[in-house]
Order: sequence, then structure tokens, then C-alpha cells
Amino acid sequence: MPPLSYDIRLEEPNEDAAIEDLHAGAFGPGRFVRTAFRIREGVPHDPRLSFIAQMDGELLGSVRLTPILIGQTLAQLFGPLAVIPSYEGLGIGRALMRKSLQEGARLGEGLVLLVGDLPYYGPFGFQRVPQGRILLLGPVDPARLLIAELAPHALDGAQGMVRGGRESPGAR
Ligand SMILES: CC(C)(COP(=O)(O)OP(=O)(O)OC[C@H]1O[C@@H](n2cnc3c(N)ncnc32)[C@H](O)[C@@H]1OP(=O)(O)O)[C@@H](O)C(=O)NCCC(=O)NCCS
Repeated sequence: MPPLSYDIRLEEPNEDAAIEDLHAGAFGPGRFVRTAFRIREGVPHDPRLSFIAQMDGELLGSVRLTPILIGQTLAQLFGPLAVIPSYEGLGIGRALMRKSLQEGARLGEGLVLLVGDLPYYGPFGFQRVPQGRILLLGPVDPARLLIAELAPHALDGAQGMVRGGRESPGAR
């Protein structure tokens, strides 16, 4: 089979509905009660770090990152990452992940948190969060709470409650 020829580029505001459809297909209605989705509720994703894969105008996959605070430390929450089922297993998910993490590093982001499977995300620098160090307002399997440093020592001192957005809790 010839290599798939698709583009990865920043998502545009008019692609919101198509991406929402992709999420509905990938995660179903239960997505709204997932802790990661709840953190993102009402917090705009970062347009500098949210990418789509497309081929001939067709949306094949999407990744979004959303600014968060871990205690007082700035970070990004990775996800949702989704690829349409007929194009799974072709490297699109990893390509979207690579692009968003590289761009995050380039823009000076230090930390990326996610809820997901270590075997998939580990090769990209994600590791388990030591239990109890990072807290979320909702249930999460601690084995699936993963973090990656995009800059050396970014994890030093990062601890506490995760909140969507970057407004310091003290400023509220
Ligand atoms: C997870 C998802 C984004 C992967 O996208 P993809 O384009 O198929 O991924 P890639 O082609 O880059 O990688 C596929 C490889 O990752 C593996 N993989 C996929 N999901 C995995 C998981 N949750 N845990 C471990 N390995 C996984 C596949 O088995 C495959 O392995 P192989 O290369 O040895 O065959 C896609 O399957 C999807 O949209 N799933 C539904 C939504 C979801 O669960 N998103 C992730 C949580 S935010």
C-alpha cells in the first residue's frame, strides 16, 4: 500500500462542528462525564497547539491541548486525541501527538498532562504521575494519569489540584 498522503495543520474555528462529531464517534455520550472532559469544560483549547489531520478536505483526526494549572504551575492538558476508525492504525494518532508536543516545546510549554494508556504515550516521554501528587476533581485511574516534561525540570515543584485555564486560583 502506498504511504498515506495527509496534512497536519492547526485546526480552524470553522472546523469545530466536524471535530465535535469526531469526538462523539470516538468517545460516545459518556465523554461528558469523564474527568478530563470536565476539566476542559468552559475552557477554550489552545489554538496554537490544536491540530487536525486531513486528506483531500476530509478530517481524519484531531488533537487538542488545553491550558491548565497544576497547583500554581502552568501546564497543558493533552486531548482529546481521536482518529476516524477507518484510518486507525496508520500512524495518524502518533503524528498528531508528535506535532502538538513539538510545537508545545517550541512555544516554551513545560508540562503536558493526560489521562490515557502508558504503552501508547510512554514512547513520547509520558510517565505515571506519582500517586497523590496531582489531584483532579473527579475519578481517574492513577495508572492512567500521565505527564511529560517538554522542558528539563518542568515537573520540579508541580503538584496540587488541576484546574482548567490559567487564572491563578488566588486571583479569583
Ligand atoms: C487512540 C487513537 C487516537 C490512536 O490513533 P491511531 O491513528 O490509530 O494511532 P497510531 O496509528 O498512531 O498507532 C497505532 C498503534 O497504537 C496502538 N494503540 C492504539 N491505542 C492504544 C492504547 N490505548 N493503548 C496502547 N496502544 C494503543 C495500536 O495498537 C497500534 O499499535 P501498532 O503500531 O503496534 O499496530 C485512535 O485509536 C482513537 O481515536 N481511538 C478512540 C479515541 C481514544 O481512545 N483516544 C485516546 C484517548 S484521549
